[in-house]
Amino acid sequence: MNFVLDAQEKSLLEQIKTKLPEIGNDRSKLIPVLQLIQAKLAYLPAEAIHVVAAHLDISPSEVYGVATFYNQFRFHPPGKNAVKVCLGTACHVKGGDIILENFERKLEIKEGETTADREFSVDRVACVGCCALAPVIVVGETVHGHMQPSKVEGLVLRARIEKEKQEREKQQK
Ligand code: FES
Repeated sequence: MNFVLDAQEKSLLEQIKTKLPEIGNDRSKLIPVLQLIQAKLAYLPAEAIHVVAAHLDISPSEVYGVATFYNQFRFHPPGKNAVKVCLGTACHVKGGDIILENFERKLEIKEGETTADREFSVDRVACVGCCALAPVIVVGETVHGHMQPSKVEGLVLRARIEKEKQEREKQQK
């Protein structure tokens, strides 16, 4: 899915464009430029890939090819509820992959993707450092230990109810 840039992302991309001449347009700058964009936007939207390609005078498919080679880059915006499922050894042994599958099924997206409403994204991560709580997921900044596949639905539902509540409160103001 290609996400439409929101106003803030558009403005950040415009700011980045003004900085590119300082960085230079040598091909060796490709990774640093991609890192700069990801640091500002938290992902590499298609528009940014085209900006980089034009700046370095290479094709967008070449930029995309290089970017996809490195798993530090993501191509979907992080969701408001960014779900990270730990698949380090301890969590994998305790069924982390089943938890990941449950999120993918419930949210109808694949790992590395974001729901159309940008509410959820799902990613696999390596050990997050609390193996005693395996299997572990992290949602935003909150660690959920001893996670079970059956808890996935409740967690998604709670986040959606919370969002609706916030929207109602906003309308009442
Ligand atoms: S392997 Fe998951 S927290 Fe260490």
